[in-house]
Amino acid sequence: MRKFVVLALVVLMAAPGALLFARGGQEAAQVDSVEVLHWWTSGGEAAALGVLKDNLEAEGIEWIDSPIAGGGGTQAMTVLRSRATAGDPPAAVQMLGMDIIDWAELGLLANMNEIARAEGWDEVVPDAIKGFSKYDGNWIAAPVNVHSTNWVWANRSIMDELGLDIPTTWDEYIAAMDAAEAAGYVGLAHGGQAWQDGTVFEAVLASTGGPEFYKRAMIDLDDAALRSDTILKTFQRMEQLAGYLDPNFSGRDWNLASAMVIEGQALFQMMGDWAKGEFLNAGLEPGVDFEGFRTPGTQGTVLFNSDQFVMFQVAPQYRAAQNLMASAVMDPEFQIAFNTVKGSVPARTDVPDAQFESIGQAAMRELREANDAGTLHGSVAHRHGNPVQVMEAMLDVITAHFNGQVSSQAAARAFVDAVAQAR
Ligand code: BGC
Repeated sequence: MRKFVVLALVVLMAAPGALLFARGGQEAAQVDSVEVLHWWTSGGEAAALGVLKDNLEAEGIEWIDSPIAGGGGTQAMTVLRSRATAGDPPAAVQMLGMDIIDWAELGLLANMNEIARAEGWDEVVPDAIKGFSKYDGNWIAAPVNVHSTNWVWANRSIMDELGLDIPTTWDEYIAAMDAAEAAGYVGLAHGGQAWQDGTVFEAVLASTGGPEFYKRAMIDLDDAALRSDTILKTFQRMEQLAGYLDPNFSGRDWNLASAMVIEGQALFQMMGDWAKGEFLNAGLEPGVDFEGFRTPGTQGTVLFNSDQFVMFQVAPQYRAAQNLMASAVMDPEFQIAFNTVKGSVPARTDVPDAQFESIGQAAMRELREANDAGTLHGSVAHRHGNPVQVMEAMLDVITAHFNGQVSSQAAARAFVDAVAQAR
């Protein structure tokens, strides 16, 4: 949080005029446009975003697109910090969990209580999501979806060719990748970027230690859990997985790794269900052309993240457009149209599943069941688990290890130290 406090001071010192302008300007004519900063630039993501853009444009609101390429939002958050520091934040921003809370703490986000009350958001958004949509009892974000990270995506025709069933245990999972490699395929398609490595790591950790251990180690940052053999075993399994990557994985975008599975070069990809958006966008059918299943050993566990839109405090003439955008995001019909394309599930509990394909329907059911069973936990790699600086410290160790720079033993030790220093 320290760096955000510093940022707040910088914002106030560097751009007092901009903030004053933001509070003044009552006389200006209403602006019928909204600038939206987001990182939805892959084929599936852009198709889903198009649904929102079209809906808003149908309401007479011009969409000013500010896409920042880079999965997981790392680059988008960097751009946002510099825009805010210059006193020029976009009106609406795609944002994840802990970042929302950090920006709310700075007092730079608009209060959405009025529209939330009028539309009854409190009654339809589940508590796990609300924890990141509300701050101090006030609505500060509109959740558009719920994604989940502990998924594996598989090429069905390679599975058929090799006589593979959907693996349910770690050993079966490894055996499937051995079979794929023996037949000349890449076992595991992956993009070597820190957030992607972290996405794989958290699923492997949940598989190795179970949901309760995941919560203790990754969310509560419990020292005994962090020092336990389960962390070492998780790093050893990561080392095992690194053996199934192709030599060009470094720096590859996640959607290009999805394309390797789609095009039949690779058997599996471990990635959140936004990857399903790529398969669907390529015209593939679940259960026929591809499979999506929970990381073996994590059946019944759901590691979630929710994309939300926050509205920055901007001049009053922009507010009507912001409200329309928030309302459009929360519209139940929109949540169906968007999420069936995006690969996620609705952030509202009152949306029927009839229009979702089989994996989406399973995801909606599993989300409810995990919520009831206490096995629904925030994704660390996607900023829903622990403070951003702790997550970044974890990702540094995970990435160095996955790239073979440190041994599993050394990584397990470094993990404890990194968390201790960052918190
Ligand atoms: C977001 C998804 C997005 C993915 C890859 C995640 O953090 O929640 O909406 O598709 O990153 O860019």
